[in-house]
Amino acid sequence: MANVKTHTFDAVIVGAGGAGLMAALYASKSANVAVISKLYPTRSHTGAAQGGIGAALGNMEEDRWEWHAYDTVKGSDYLADQDAVDVLCKEAVDTVIELEHMGLPFDRYPNGTISQRRFGGHTNNDTGKPVQRACHAADRTGHMILQTLYQQCIKNKVNFFDEFHVVDLIRVDNTVRGIVAIEISTGDFHVFHSKAVHFATGGWGRCWEVTSNAHSLTGDGAAICLRRGVPLEDMEFFQFHPTGIFRLGVLITEGVRGEGGVLINSKGERFMEKYAPTIKDLASRDVVSRAIFLEVQAGRGINGQNYVHLDIRPETVNHYFEQAGEKRRIDREYIEAKLPDIADFTRTYLGVDPVTEPMPVQPTAHYAMGGIPTDVDGRVLANVDGTLIDGLYAAGECACVSVHGANRLGTNSLVDLVVFGRRSGNHMAAYCNQADLLPLPDDPAGEVMAEFERLRNGSGGVKPAELRTKMQKSMTANVGVFRTEETMGTAVSDLKELIEAYERNVQIDDKGQKFNTDLLEAWELGCLLELAEVTAVSAKARKESRGGHARDDFQKRNDADWLKHTFYFRTEDGGYRLDYKPVTLGRYEPKERVY
Ligand code: FUM
Repeated sequence: MANVKTHTFDAVIVGAGGAGLMAALYASKSANVAVISKLYPTRSHTGAAQGGIGAALGNMEEDRWEWHAYDTVKGSDYLADQDAVDVLCKEAVDTVIELEHMGLPFDRYPNGTISQRRFGGHTNNDTGKPVQRACHAADRTGHMILQTLYQQCIKNKVNFFDEFHVVDLIRVDNTVRGIVAIEISTGDFHVFHSKAVHFATGGWGRCWEVTSNAHSLTGDGAAICLRRGVPLEDMEFFQFHPTGIFRLGVLITEGVRGEGGVLINSKGERFMEKYAPTIKDLASRDVVSRAIFLEVQAGRGINGQNYVHLDIRPETVNHYFEQAGEKRRIDREYIEAKLPDIADFTRTYLGVDPVTEPMPVQPTAHYAMGGIPTDVDGRVLANVDGTLIDGLYAAGECACVSVHGANRLGTNSLVDLVVFGRRSGNHMAAYCNQADLLPLPDDPAGEVMAEFERLRNGSGGVKPAELRTKMQKSMTANVGVFRTEETMGTAVSDLKELIEAYERNVQIDDKGQKFNTDLLEAWELGCLLELAEVTAVSAKARKESRGGHARDDFQKRNDADWLKHTFYFRTEDGGYRLDYKPVTLGRYEPKERVY
């Protein structure tokens, strides 16, 4: 293993967002753990989660974790596994209290309890009306979670390898032996030899043109697992958040609507009254994104363009509060206190002051419901029968437990991170305490090093940026808010061509070793192309509409044939195979979703 440094730990955790840090905190209580992250930990994308973390604390009004569970299952369009949803919603309560005790600076009510706001799809199950369930720190909830967990990990002496980019998983038969990473500052390869590996690498929103996801969200963990024989589950379900900043995609939190903001079309109509008469602007995200799309398609986009207005101006919001018989009122001071980052973003990027002007918004690619299949302890599944891969774990957005099914409710991503991060960290520590450190295979970094040499020396004249743009345009046009057999077929063939061009002709400019982001971005593009293809293929195969997968040619949900999870496998000849696994039902029988 020339030029390759080897390190040994009980467990390596890939990714330092909320799931990775929570897993590290728990695993490090009894195991020797390394966290390896291509970013400095507090730059992880958990920091971009704004509006809140859902937990049925019932601080302001009656709430129960079972209501949270029902809302999650209904929001998922009945594809979520109900045993896992129970774990999520029950454990949300004490996990949020645990974060509070770690020092997370939540907003508070005058009586000192954690402040909670309304969010899409979260209801009082008796009345069907929105309930205050999203615990928040202004509109910086994810940022605060990240800072709090990072401080706890430092306090607990977790080993961090910052700006190390993980590029391969070392798997032998049904066991893992570690990972391969590149140290970004030197270009050196490192092998981390371990008993267990945990992926917490986030999503792949960068497959689409307009996205709330940071540049780093390239699906590395999911793509690496797929290449090493791990299936990917329910990849056809990718969420479009209804309110991204027009053209930029930067997230405008659902907390804006939670605080009373409304969506308005070019005719000045509050159009969600038509699509979701009971819950209106706080319907689940798939419903609201489709409504915006349909308004635009009907010519009611603002100025004839593909956006609508999100209006949090006090005069608008107070008018609707009054109409609904609600006592509360908002003003400039309230908006500046509860939504400071949003106000800052729109002033900076759009020159729009949300206190006096409505904000231009459009659906933005936001969140992967699918990913690496796991059980409720983060253990990765090898197939639809539930066979486990020894020592391999995943949690957070890159994983699919599945608690989000076909559509995730807002706030549940943060719950997922901390609940399943904690469970997988605990389980991994126990695993490491009884497992042996198995030997490394010969030349464990050889294959991926050869791939990097191919990318470095490519001379076909095709720039990665060119392929990336084409992929993003095709995914947006063909595998977006609405899809058909024809559009998805176009995406599949576009992606085939792009992957061929990537494999044959890609060429980068920087041939150096140190801080070679040109090279690393070219490698990330390979991950994106692969996951885009998995998404398009899985979507084309699902002949129904469910949650975030809305087909013009199969407009109805079809439980008789499609109440099941998709598993996509890479085959040895580079092709693929699809398999399906039944959904775990529980208290809630699938029925029509009405909001
Ligand atoms: O709208 C938001 O604040 C996003 C939260 C989420 O994706 O859960």
